[in-house]
Parts: sequence; structure tokens; C-alpha cells
Amino acid sequence: MKIAKLPEEIQQLSTDWHEQGLTVGLVPTMGYLHEGHLSLVEAAVRECDKVLMSIFVNPTQFGPKEDFATYPRDILRDLRLAYGAGVDCVFNPEPKDMYPEGYATYVKVENLSQRLCGQSRPDHFRGVATVVLKLFNITGADYGYFGQKDAQQVIVLQRMVRDLNIPIIIRRVPTVREADGLAKSSRNVYLSPQERAQAPGFYAALLEAKELIDDGETSVSRITNLVRERIENIPLARMDYIELVDAQTLLPLEKIQKPALLAGAVFFGKTRLIDNIFIE
Ligand code: PAJ
Repeated sequence: MKIAKLPEEIQQLSTDWHEQGLTVGLVPTMGYLHEGHLSLVEAAVRECDKVLMSIFVNPTQFGPKEDFATYPRDILRDLRLAYGAGVDCVFNPEPKDMYPEGYATYVKVENLSQRLCGQSRPDHFRGVATVVLKLFNITGADYGYFGQKDAQQVIVLQRMVRDLNIPIIIRRVPTVREADGLAKSSRNVYLSPQERAQAPGFYAALLEAKELIDDGETSVSRITNLVRERIENIPLARMDYIELVDAQTLLPLEKIQKPALLAGAVFFGKTRLIDNIFIE
């Protein structure tokens, strides 16, 4: 497995692969890999001749009071896991090589970026869209793999790809969960044992709402109220938001209209967890 630090190295490698007629899949990550990330690699390995993984804790997507400095990192373990999963090359750049002095260009996907998580993380998706577009350009990948766990992220990136005519196909991969339902996340390591024990209540509440919908409930306020009530009853949980929105526009719905997205963010202590269920 090749490890590259500089954008130029990846550009050259990808050009070589394409000259050999090979397809290239990209799995962007911030590292501290878990099975969620590895399921993206699996999907890429199945579909592409060559798989590139980027590991880069992207400073521009963290707010000033967020956890950029303390975000968990373990590059040696990540490299081992990436190699074991069949990654052909890891791109692990330094911030100064991604954002050299004088860096001035950002991508903003209007409207979609302000909804849901955008309300409490106003510049987050600007940072995500910018770094992901850079990764698409650096790697020239044919396919990009993203997790359903970050549903709004995939929706924002799909919009960007359409709007800017980027020649890449985006794949959305299902959320990988712990046995008790908690969505796998690099940030789960922040949870205290008590918080960890209560965190699965979040997904359980979303599942209960899904059952209500499957049973024919169409009133969005009744559905979201149920979830909010369940979250309020988890002692260590503090709700950021729970919303049921149109899965394309992310605008709030009054009556269920498919495809919809039931999404939320909940704090357990200082840790903000996100999760969602697609209603198709
Ligand atoms: P990160 O949080 O490391 O996640 C990398 C990719 O793994 C994302 O596409 C995310 O949706 C996916 N993922 C995370 N947990 C998952 C799970 N439990 N099941 C399935 N997929 C999961 O998302 C980012 O990094 C960054 O914003 C990034 C896209 C790399 C841009 O910096």
C-alpha cells in the first residue's frame, strides 16, 4: 500500500492508473477508522480497480469552539486497517499542503448547508464541500463513497457535484452500527461509560418513529414529538435538533411525503452525536 503526503503524488498516481484504463474509487475520511469507514472501502473495492483513502482531519469544517485539536487520531492503526481492507493508497496530507499560505477559495452549497446540522454548525458544510472538491480534483476519482450516517453531508455533496458538473459518481453506503444500535463514530470514544450506555436510546427513538410511520402515521409533528419526548427521557441526553424533512431539499414537512429524512443531533455530555433514518 502506497502512502502519499503531497497532492502532486496522488495526481500522478491517479493519472498513471487512468492511463492503464483502471477505475479509481475515493474514500474520504478524517481517520480514527472504524467499521463504518471500512464498509465504504468494501463498497469501493467491489466496484473499482484501485481504491484511494484520504485521511485528513480537515480544519476548515470545525467551528472555533469545536474539537479540531482533540479529534482522535491514530495514523499507524489507521494505516494497518486500511491495508487490511484492501486500500491501494492512503493520502495523508498536512494542513499546510491542503491550505497553503494565501489560500482563499471556498465552496458554499447554498440553502442545504444551512439546514439541520447547519443551524448549530454554520460553516461546517462549507469546509466539507471545499475539502471534498479538492480531494475530487486531486484524485480525479471516478467514484466517491460516503456514509448514510452523515445524510446531510451526502445530500450537500450530491448537489455540489450536479451544480459544478464534477465528473464523479457518488455512492451512499448504509450506516454501520454497534450491536445495540448506536451508529459507529470516531467521536464515540469521547462518551463516558454512563453516556455510552444511554446513547443507543437515540437510535431506538428514531426506530420507534419509523414504526409509527410504517403503521400509517402521516403527521410530522406527532412523529417528531414522539422522538423528542423519548430523547428528553434519556437522563444524560440533551437534544440539539430532531427534524423530519424532505430528503432532497431538507425543508421541513408537515405531512409525510417520501423520500423523507428523519434526522437529529443529540448531545451526551459534551459529545454531539448525529443519526438519521431514511423514509423511502
Ligand atoms: P469521517 O467522519 O471520518 O467519515 C468518513 C466517512 O465515513 C463519511 O462518508 C461518513 O459518512 C462515513 N461514516 C462514518 N461513520 C459511519 C457509519 N457508522 N456507517 C457508515 N459510514 C460511516 O465525514 C467525514 O469524515 C468528513 O466530513 C469528510 C467527508 C472526510 C470531509 O472532511
